[in-house]
Amino acid sequence: MMDDAKGPDAKASKRKDAHLALAASDLAMSGIDAGFDRVRLDHCALPECDLAAIDIANCCLGRPVSAPLFIGSMTGGTTHADAINLELAGIAEAAGIALAVGSQRASLEAGRSQAAMRERAPSVPLIGNLGGVQLAMPGGIDLAKRAVDDLRADAIFIHLNPLQEAAQPEGQTDWRHVLAAIANAVQELGVPVMVKEVGAGIGPDVARRLFDVGVHAVDVAGLGGTNWTRIEATRRADAALFDPFLDWGLPTVEALQAVHAACPNGRLIASGGIRHGLDAAKALWLGAALASMAGPVLRALTIDGVQAPDPDAAMAVMERCKDQIRLALFLTGAPDLSAFADVSGRVAVP
Ligand SMILES: Cc1cc2nc3c(=O)[nH]c(=O)nc-3n(C[C@H](O)[C@H](O)[C@H](O)COP(=O)(O)O)c2cc1C
Repeated sequence: MMDDAKGPDAKASKRKDAHLALAASDLAMSGIDAGFDRVRLDHCALPECDLAAIDIANCCLGRPVSAPLFIGSMTGGTTHADAINLELAGIAEAAGIALAVGSQRASLEAGRSQAAMRERAPSVPLIGNLGGVQLAMPGGIDLAKRAVDDLRADAIFIHLNPLQEAAQPEGQTDWRHVLAAIANAVQELGVPVMVKEVGAGIGPDVARRLFDVGVHAVDVAGLGGTNWTRIEATRRADAALFDPFLDWGLPTVEALQAVHAACPNGRLIASGGIRHGLDAAKALWLGAALASMAGPVLRALTIDGVQAPDPDAAMAVMERCKDQIRLALFLTGAPDLSAFADVSGRVAVP
């Protein structure tokens, strides 16, 4: 592993480590909930299936996974963040679930590599990550290619985070030509391009434009969980500017329902404020093919974002989530995911 960077890269490293500690704190939680408590699944008093035999195994990006669940994009680019990512890779492999990494830009620009993650997680889907605004900059497509190659990724997430960038003291606020850059990445990268927000949500209009240019999946990444406006505002001298915007965005459930109604054949991913397996099951019920958690996994792994990782604790959270998804299927009388799609009345898009 390389030493952390010097000069401007050292600033990015410091920011990334500060983010980890802030993201694990109570300050990072949205003031508005994601909406899962208002969703009720149809209880079936006669399930006619065996809880012990409920099957939630699935296929994700061409690889078999044990559940329609993954660890959300989080971190990378510093010694501490890379150590956390390696632990996450081990957890994903042991749990048989996909793993998305955080933005690879700082890591690649500092000459670091996250290739060890693929060695730690050889059989599960690994998903790379780059910002949409960075993709649209000169050299952005080459950075995206290097991100995919470095990780030997099965797909890449392009994240859209205009609010986070606006709130970030050093953020990028020229968002012209980002859709064209995503359309170009779809053509050029040779792996599926998926698009996500980071906790302010993707609505139906943006989702439609993304599917129109050929993106493989849209992760609505809505409001209700980790809140980047709150995190970034703490690092500003003029934090009051963002006071009215702290809970700006589309709550996850609202985003999911609106995007599923507008794009019933689009492959959807749900994240943002998913606390446990029942929330994940509700997301599937509302039309998502996959659900992911970021902040809750970070807190299970490191408690405060700084402590030495406890992979057993994070593993226990993921296994409990899987059991909760199985329980939700059982209690709706669905022996497997396709039956669950049938009882929810939605179109299953694998
Ligand atoms: C510590 C941390 C770092 C993150 N870094 C990134 C990132 O680099 N790229 C990205 O697309 N999303 C990033 N996210 C956002 C998550 O992927 C996710 O969209 C958001 O946290 C909402 O999910 P949650 O409520 O389960 O945490 C990060 C989240 C956390 C907690």
